Amino acid sequence: MERRSDWYAHPKYYEAIFGTDTEKEMDFLLAVNRVHGTGGSLLLEPACGAGRLVAEAARRGLQVVGYDISQPMLEHARKRLSPARRRQIRLFQSRMESFSAPELEGRVDLAFNLVSTFRYLDSEAAALAHLESTRRLLKPEGVYALGFHLTDYARTTFERERWVGRVGKDTVICNTREGLPDRRLRRSPMRNRLRITGPGKDLLIETEWFFRTYDLLQARRLFRAAGLRVLATYDFDYRLDTPVRRGSARLDRVFILQPEPVTQVG
Ligand SMILES: C[S@@+](CC[C@H](N)C(=O)[O-])C[C@H]1O[C@@H](n2cnc3c(N)ncnc32)[C@H](O)[C@@H]1O
Repeated sequence: MERRSDWYAHPKYYEAIFGTDTEKEMDFLLAVNRVHGTGGSLLLEPACGAGRLVAEAARRGLQVVGYDISQPMLEHARKRLSPARRRQIRLFQSRMESFSAPELEGRVDLAFNLVSTFRYLDSEAAALAHLESTRRLLKPEGVYALGFHLTDYARTTFERERWVGRVGKDTVICNTREGLPDRRLRRSPMRNRLRITGPGKDLLIETEWFFRTYDLLQARRLFRAAGLRVLATYDFDYRLDTPVRRGSARLDRVFILQPEPVTQVG
């Protein structure tokens, strides 16, 4: 068996697992844009990865800006676009904590960041910088759909998820494990294993990292500090007709955030 690390250096295997819900996610995001936001056509995806969602948005006629820290993921994103789609999409290599685009200030209708990517930001300062800069890019009535798992600090068992996907003749089995959260350090140890088997192939890609942790109070406090208010909360079923009810035990959340209205003085 061949061994590698860093699943983001292998975008096609990443997408074999996470690409399956793309249309459903985009249906949901566009419904969020219509119901909670402006319904306008300029979209932004921080940490856009291999571009499954930016490509889907462009296919539906929208303008999209995406950025990501990983060059292999961005290359995959560029390769998948036809020349016509390339005119609708702008991709940058940048970090969530420092992305800046003065030409976009106050112009974005909908920003989105799903599947817990926000939790890569490993300090309160980094998370705050990301939220504040994204807020500045939004139109006053624009929204940021931010999806991530909240943390139950009382949890005593590991969380595990398993998916199976295919790339041509190869089978991809993905196992993700979240270890026990450390309340003081505000982080959980994460491990992802992608096992790829097929004719002449047996590959294991193992990636370890830490995700920052948030309970509901910590998340709400951070949004407030960044000048964002929560308009609604959904879960990873991505259904606009079933928002998360107050007191729900579900930890998978999509927060719909909007810039706090600017209060006029005097
Ligand atoms: C789980 S993937 C999500 C990709 C894409 N948003 C999607 O839904 O398919 C996480 C992505 O975050 C990127 N990433 C991690 N930390 C980052 C950071 N600090 N700034 C920008 N991108 C980051 C990784 O390179 C990877 O492409």
